[in-house]
Amino acid sequence: MQSLVASNLPDASVKSLPNSHQALLKNQHLLIGRVALLGVASAHLLPELSPSGPAISGLAMSEHAGVFRALGHQETWQACFGYDDPALTQNRYDSVVVFLPKARSELEMRLALALSLAADNARLILVGEKKEGIAGAIKQLKAIVPQASKVDSARHCQVWCADAVEPVPGFQVQDWLSWDRVECAGVPVDVAGLPGIFSQDGLDKGTRLLLETLSEQPAGAERILDFACGAGVIGAWVQAWQASQKRAVASVDAVDVQSQAIICARETYQRNGAAGTISASDGLTGMEGLWPVIISNPPFHSGVKTDTSMTEQFLQDVKRHLQPGGELRLVANSFLPYEALIKRYIGRVERLREDGRFTVYRAFRG
Ligand SMILES: C[S@@+](CC[C@H](N)C(=O)[O-])C[C@H]1O[C@@H](n2cnc3c(N)ncnc32)[C@H](O)[C@@H]1O
Repeated sequence: MQSLVASNLPDASVKSLPNSHQALLKNQHLLIGRVALLGVASAHLLPELSPSGPAISGLAMSEHAGVFRALGHQETWQACFGYDDPALTQNRYDSVVVFLPKARSELEMRLALALSLAADNARLILVGEKKEGIAGAIKQLKAIVPQASKVDSARHCQVWCADAVEPVPGFQVQDWLSWDRVECAGVPVDVAGLPGIFSQDGLDKGTRLLLETLSEQPAGAERILDFACGAGVIGAWVQAWQASQKRAVASVDAVDVQSQAIICARETYQRNGAAGTISASDGLTGMEGLWPVIISNPPFHSGVKTDTSMTEQFLQDVKRHLQPGGELRLVANSFLPYEALIKRYIGRVERLREDGRFTVYRAFRG
């Protein structure tokens, strides 16, 4: 078995890759023929695959808009954004690599996608970190490919491999959609769900607190931006509430980094008759425009770790997208350090509501 250190890879860049990607590099001799990589978390993986051997080609799918954009710069690889990219139906692959996602339900969907991409007699490889739950995921793998066996433990990961995998065509992300009716301040909306999306089983408590403040102190504007929109519940509910109050109904644009969120937000808007443009973006980079109101229940996780860097970046960037006098309304876990950051980057900040766990902040651009 080839060792990572013995390979010709520049060590520093390999070490900055996620552990699962390093474990695949160590085992890249397993890759045969055309390769599909599902759930790529860093575009730096691709140039590290066979840097001195014959070029590996294939498909690289990421459900993260920023990673997907970076994947587009790699020759010999077809980049795909998430589970509904039209390129997913174009070819079959001799090796399909599944990187373990955080949610078990997403693993089930990702494995179904893997089977639909498999050529006849393909090889399926599952790579995941122990702390992300690879041990528990093996039951799911063996349910579809009982011949799978462990081939390596490296970089805190396990690598599992199954040969003679037969394709199961016909993957459609719509088959994985679910619906949930949520209600706040007496106004219901139907919210779409997909495996791996935030708060698939109902309205998040922080989001509920935010929506309650929007019914008590409404944001009166024709256009609103919902940053980190998830399944689109905020935009759909705001419009439904305004209609229920016979108020002018705002258009609520929405942005999220995750493919499933974009798919669900579009479905949620369509089912509730909501208006607004839904865009995939990593933070506000690449977003054009000024809004009189920006609302958010922003992220504080990256994978399984607490990570406030995305929201800190958002707070740095948000003023550029707020009209003069425009309002930022944000809910967050009260222990997170956002009040000081809002003050620093936007100005005077009020706490509109606190419930012991969450705080809703409001600030206006001077
Ligand atoms: C706390 S959830 C809120 C979802 C939704 N607004 C709600 O209230 O149900 C945070 C969302 O941020 C998204 N997210 C994470 N990192 C992001 C980034 N860099 N840019 C945009 N959205 C991001 C996640 O995909 C997730 O949908």
